[in-house]
Amino acid sequence: MALTIAVLSQKGGTGKTTAVRHLAGAFREAGLRVLSVDLDPQGNLSDYFDVDPEAEPTIGDVLTGRARPEDAVRDDVIPANLSLAEAELALAGKMGRELALRKALSTFADDYDVIFVDCPPALGLLTVNALVAADFALISAEAQYFALQGVEQALEVIELARDSLNPGLEWLGVLFNIADMRTVHSREAFAALREHVGDRLLDQTVRQSIAYAESAERAIPIYEHRPDLGADYLAVAEELLRRLGLEQARRNVSERLAAASA
Ligand SMILES: Nc1ncnc2c1ncn2[C@@H]1O[C@H](COP(=O)(O)OP(=O)(O)O)[C@@H](O)[C@H]1O
Ligand SMILES: [Mg+2]
Repeated sequence: MALTIAVLSQKGGTGKTTAVRHLAGAFREAGLRVLSVDLDPQGNLSDYFDVDPEAEPTIGDVLTGRARPEDAVRDDVIPANLSLAEAELALAGKMGRELALRKALSTFADDYDVIFVDCPPALGLLTVNALVAADFALISAEAQYFALQGVEQALEVIELARDSLNPGLEWLGVLFNIADMRTVHSREAFAALREHVGDRLLDQTVRQSIAYAESAERAIPIYEHRPDLGADYLAVAEELLRRLGLEQARRNVSERLAAASA
């Protein structure tokens, strides 16, 4: 059975897409079968994976019932484009509108070990679809004073999904992203989050670097573009694999990290 992980935050620019790109990559290289679903009309994840921008069908076609889920997969990615914004509006008027993604992803239960869903920068119907389809929710929080507020809002939506349509949804953790831990500002924000969410906050943070923008632009993952920085996401992947109980994959990532630092 595939484990589905929704990566969300209450706003844009918190590093969700970058996290999905690299966690999916790290999990895959650790030997897992990974599907990545772009659920943002901006299509940033599709671009980062270098999917042809003209590729069709997309997740929008799947959610509105115009295409079969299996026909939308391109190199283990289900892409999105601007048509997803229309699809969201069309979906809003339908019965079972919160269940469309869960139904679509159930197709892949035996084909993948892990399915990542990259959420759009708002806590609307698409993010609710992701949370209803997911086994786990991972919150990305940008390292700044308002991080806590954003995490609390994301947690409320997770709670709503759990109370209504998805009681089994687990909260995988909070990733402290785009961080400069040399600054008091970042360290204080990290401490405030820790006080609030305890050990749900991942120990490993992701350093801020302009290299991520270059990596996205060239559609080359950070561990190839800048191996020194790549260790951050590998260590995050290791921490998550431990939480998920995927021990063999965790050991594989751990070996890769050791080799990288040797
Ligand atoms: N660790 C990082 N350091 C610096 N910039 C980053 C980092 N991670 C992501 N970025 C950049 O920040 C912007 C937002 O990241 P993105 O992953 O697209 O966030 P979201 O999906 O939450 O909107 C992008 O330009 C991305 O390249
Ligand atoms: Mg994004």
